[in-house]
Amino acid sequence: MESSHAQRKNEHLSLATKLYNQVHTNSFNSMQIIHKSLPEISLDQVNPVTNCGTLKLAVPFFIEAMTGGSQNAFKINQELAMVAKKHHLAMALGSASIIFHDPTAKKSFKVVRDINPDGIVIANLSAKASLEQAKTVIDLLDADALELHVNTTQELIMDDGDRNFHWLTNIESLVNRLNIPVIVKEVGFGMDSSTINQLQSIGVSIINISGRGGTNFATIEDRRNHTADFSFLNYWGQTTLESMLEAREARTKDTQIIASGGICSPLDVIKAGILGANAVGVAGYFLNILIHDGIDALDKEITNWQMALPRLLALLGCKSFNELPSTNFVLHGEELEYAQQRDLI
Ligand code: FNR
Repeated sequence: MESSHAQRKNEHLSLATKLYNQVHTNSFNSMQIIHKSLPEISLDQVNPVTNCGTLKLAVPFFIEAMTGGSQNAFKINQELAMVAKKHHLAMALGSASIIFHDPTAKKSFKVVRDINPDGIVIANLSAKASLEQAKTVIDLLDADALELHVNTTQELIMDDGDRNFHWLTNIESLVNRLNIPVIVKEVGFGMDSSTINQLQSIGVSIINISGRGGTNFATIEDRRNHTADFSFLNYWGQTTLESMLEAREARTKDTQIIASGGICSPLDVIKAGILGANAVGVAGYFLNILIHDGIDALDKEITNWQMALPRLLALLGCKSFNELPSTNFVLHGEELEYAQQRDLI
């Protein structure tokens, strides 16, 4: 019998895969890239390597934080790590807070580093984690970066979730005291420009806006919660496209923006790049392929993304991912209205 923490991880995995297709509403469909017929480039001039702060990514997309802490999570992390290694993808793990309740959970995280000793591995903890906890998890994984998740919506829906959200001072202290990059990330509800400014003001230099459109933790936690009905929050938060627009002004040489939330094709990766993403995280879409169709299907999908990305860059006349923001685009429908009302275009 696994602990209640491990059971929660298993429920997340199972609901994330059951509900993904019901909640998936890709905001990038409202963004039309302006095609140019004469890009004046050849494919061999294109290099997909991209830098996100000091992290050098062979490919601009990576496997975003999902799991760890149960037997099922062990197998999933093992398979994701094998795929990450083969394709030179960075990989973030799910929150490791569970190891402080159940030390046997450590192996389901460590397996990722064991399989991929030279890859980029990103640890994940709550924004309220202590310095000691952060150091323990970083050591366990020999992590290249640490993600701190900010997940108020999810916590408030959970019966036993956090109720105190004074997180900024703790985040600032972790950023100042850790000697690896600290990424602050949402979990699928997006960010606005004022949140991004708050994070910048305390020295956070990598921000993952993780927006609405893919995995939806309001829906997932609502299904787990049997005492209260929160289904009215199913459309809470800013979409990934809206969050990227919110982040555009704040994006500087010193602030790197990661896009995630509902990314499910190489074209989405490109669109995120046009909106200024330095890197792009993919969680639910890859998890669904792995769980429903197996590791070979995920391997095949990622092979296709790897092949398509440089060709899409060439189509747009861009030699690298970082050149994408000069590409023209227009917005349609609700996303255009959002951008106009928020004065973002
Ligand atoms: C997540 N996500 C997540 N994020 C985080 O910071 N810590 C975590 O422990 C988890 N756990 C988790 C479990 C499962 C099963 C999924 C699918 C996702 C959120 C994830 O990193 C991402 O921010 C959102 O899922 C949005 O991206 P996708 O899924 O739409 O690509």
